[in-house]
Amino acid sequence: MKINKDVFVKTKKKLLKMNMIVVMCFLGILLTFTMFYFSYITYNNIDRELGREFKYILSQLGNERYEPIKLLDPKDMVYIYENDRIKYYTENDYFDKLLPEKNFEDKQVFTKFIEKGHVFRELNINVSDYHIQIIRNIDSEIFSVSKLISILLFIGIVSLIFIYIISLYLTKKALIPIETAWKNQAKFIQDASHELRTPITIVSSKLELLLKSPENTIEDEAETIAIAMKETRRLKKMVNDLLSLTKEDGIVQLNKEIFNLKDILDEIQEDYFDIAEYQEKEFSCKILSKNTYIYNDKSKFKQILRIFIDNAFKYTNSGDSINIKIEDDKNLENTLKISVNDTGIGILSEDIPNIFDRFFRSDNVRSKDIDGSGIGLSIADIMSKNIGVDIGVESEYKKGSSFFIKVKKEDLKNKNKIKK
Ligand SMILES: Nc1ncnc2c1ncn2[C@@H]1O[C@H](COP(=O)(O)OP(=O)(O)O)[C@@H](O)[C@H]1O
Ligand SMILES: [Mg+2]
Repeated sequence: MKINKDVFVKTKKKLLKMNMIVVMCFLGILLTFTMFYFSYITYNNIDRELGREFKYILSQLGNERYEPIKLLDPKDMVYIYENDRIKYYTENDYFDKLLPEKNFEDKQVFTKFIEKGHVFRELNINVSDYHIQIIRNIDSEIFSVSKLISILLFIGIVSLIFIYIISLYLTKKALIPIETAWKNQAKFIQDASHELRTPITIVSSKLELLLKSPENTIEDEAETIAIAMKETRRLKKMVNDLLSLTKEDGIVQLNKEIFNLKDILDEIQEDYFDIAEYQEKEFSCKILSKNTYIYNDKSKFKQILRIFIDNAFKYTNSGDSINIKIEDDKNLENTLKISVNDTGIGILSEDIPNIFDRFFRSDNVRSKDIDGSGIGLSIADIMSKNIGVDIGVESEYKKGSSFFIKVKKEDLKNKNKIKK
């Protein structure tokens, strides 16, 4: 099963990759947004404060008396030019020797510049003859923003690792049911081809045998031909069974209606009457319940019953008896128990848990060369689950078996809803 493994490993990787790409896109968008938003907020704050500072300075410019200009934030640096000549400036550690470059634009502009490893935000405004330049060191703000960015990046990377581990776990988990279904399917195909191989081998060997003695008449080879034909019949039945098995395994459409079990029993009795007589078996039906109406899929219900009855005929010898009984269940209220009882070969107690498995056939049945595929009961099992009834078996080896269906009774009051 090397190919399957590869498929699953590849699917896992693909799923993981897609997961991670989606998560990374989201994280990326989130981080960039937060980053831009925070730097926007920071610069916006600084600019607003610089603006307020400017207004405060402007209110002091009218004073003719020489007075040092007061600042809202004493750390701000102010350069005031009158007709291009420096008129006033605050002493500071950054630009004492050299005046900072002026920005003589008409409009109010905020700019950022870096000088000797320090970051500054400046505001340049022309008011009549004055040019006012306010500069603020924003090292600490830049530091906070870059700190925030690195924290965000760190969180992003850590969450990526976490998400990777979680997605790895989740994709593995999500693939489990698919993997199981895949394995079951592969097992089914293996089993089916194994079962089909036997009749094919027999047919081809019989045909070869015929070819080896071309002078023989058909009469001479009647037995060989009969065996080959029997095996082709078996093949045909098996392929049909396999088809109905896979059909039942998929999505099935139920066609539920209210019907009387007695009607089904009448039909069945008619079908099997001749076989019973021909095989010299006693076949009888007994109805012990007053209300035998149920609400279910009639044809599927009948198919399950047929699988049981077919087996009962197959696994009994002449002189045995087969009996179908409809009675009220002793333990469950409002429930009917329909049982197919035979006095045939019975089932070994260790085989009972397996008989509903696909392709399972008891060893004693295989060795006795009784025809069959081991599919019948597994179809009954799937069908019973589909139509919502319980099936089961009680059996004693060499004494006989009893297969039963338990189904809820339909209230007699609803009888008028019966489809005709
Ligand atoms: N009425 C029965 N009496 C004895 N054994 C039975 C009976 N019904 C089923 N079994 C056992 O259960 C096995 C599975 O039955 P089934 O799925 O119908 O396959 P098949 O009849 O093709 O072998 C049979 O091979 C047989 O060993
Ligand atoms: Mg069968």
